[in-house]
Amino acid sequence: NWTMENFIETEIKRIRTLVGPTAEVIGAVSGGVDSTVAAKLMTEAIGERFHAIMVDNGVLRLNEAENVKKNLGAGLGINLTVVDAADEFLDKLKGVTDPEKKRKLIGNTFIHVFEREAEKIKPKDGTDVEFLLQGTLYPDVIESISFKGPSQTIKTHHNVGGLLDNMKLKLIEPLRELFKDEVRHLGELLGIPHDLVWRHPFPGPGIAIRVLGEVTREQVAIARKADYIYIEEIRNAGLYGQISQAFACLLPVKSVGVMGDQRTYDQVIALRAIETTDFMTADWFPFPHEFLKKVAARIVNEVDGVARVTYDITSKPPATVEWE
Ligand code: XMP
Repeated sequence: NWTMENFIETEIKRIRTLVGPTAEVIGAVSGGVDSTVAAKLMTEAIGERFHAIMVDNGVLRLNEAENVKKNLGAGLGINLTVVDAADEFLDKLKGVTDPEKKRKLIGNTFIHVFEREAEKIKPKDGTDVEFLLQGTLYPDVIESISFKGPSQTIKTHHNVGGLLDNMKLKLIEPLRELFKDEVRHLGELLGIPHDLVWRHPFPGPGIAIRVLGEVTREQVAIARKADYIYIEEIRNAGLYGQISQAFACLLPVKSVGVMGDQRTYDQVIALRAIETTDFMTADWFPFPHEFLKKVAARIVNEVDGVARVTYDITSKPPATVEWE
């Protein structure tokens, strides 16, 4: 009979047989649920012969790289390397305002950086790394077969397709028959902390598509702080689990405000929170007014460069979840 406990046992055996006694496996981790669960399962199966790589692309959430190092490396015992490639990504993003260009640029740079790091991993016996781990889920499998649309960009980013061609890696996808809720259940059985297992999704291009217009270090810093405060307040209010995804966007618009007896002229933050089952359609989340009032006050008071906060009350469709 199919149980998740049996699945873990069978899958670990399958991985060990497939990889054999000496070969090495690499895989990208993002701090998200799928790559973390896949990496933990792989670590259970082959230990240090699995090498996780996290690329800090400069557009991650506040403290994300450090948190992943702590939670996945120290906490879960995953053999992890965090690569700081923020300058490389941000330099390339200079002057780029088109959302699809941002996505392509980040996707391509990611492949480039990951490949460079992967080549540094040399198995002890002098052979090359043989396998690439991917946290592909069943819906991704279906989507990449049947769906041709804008989210193909998502595929290029997450599937690190170029790596397979250039490095002649063989693919391991232990989650390819599972749905998201099953992956979460699996994560819990593998001892991954609750907050990590129940994390909202975060797009590959990260804050770059939440800073509307040109992405600079300064703009990313503002968006990050606002987002951090927003998510912190959502957690404090006990609402995180009721929301499917929430984030702050920084708009390339200035607006007049008043602080004390000073006139200010600063940017606008738009908050988004949605409820959805499949991300194809979504409703905006009905926060209590007191919550919105508190978050708005905190963001304007604590984040330099922000004069005004708005809440996005558009459903999908017609709006998308992300602003870009
Ligand atoms: P949209 O904006 O298309 O978002 O309604 C639906 C879901 O997809 C995520 N998303 C992305 N994820 N790379 C990703 O990895 C992307 O380029 C991308 N664009 C959107 C979005 O965060 C939401 O969960």
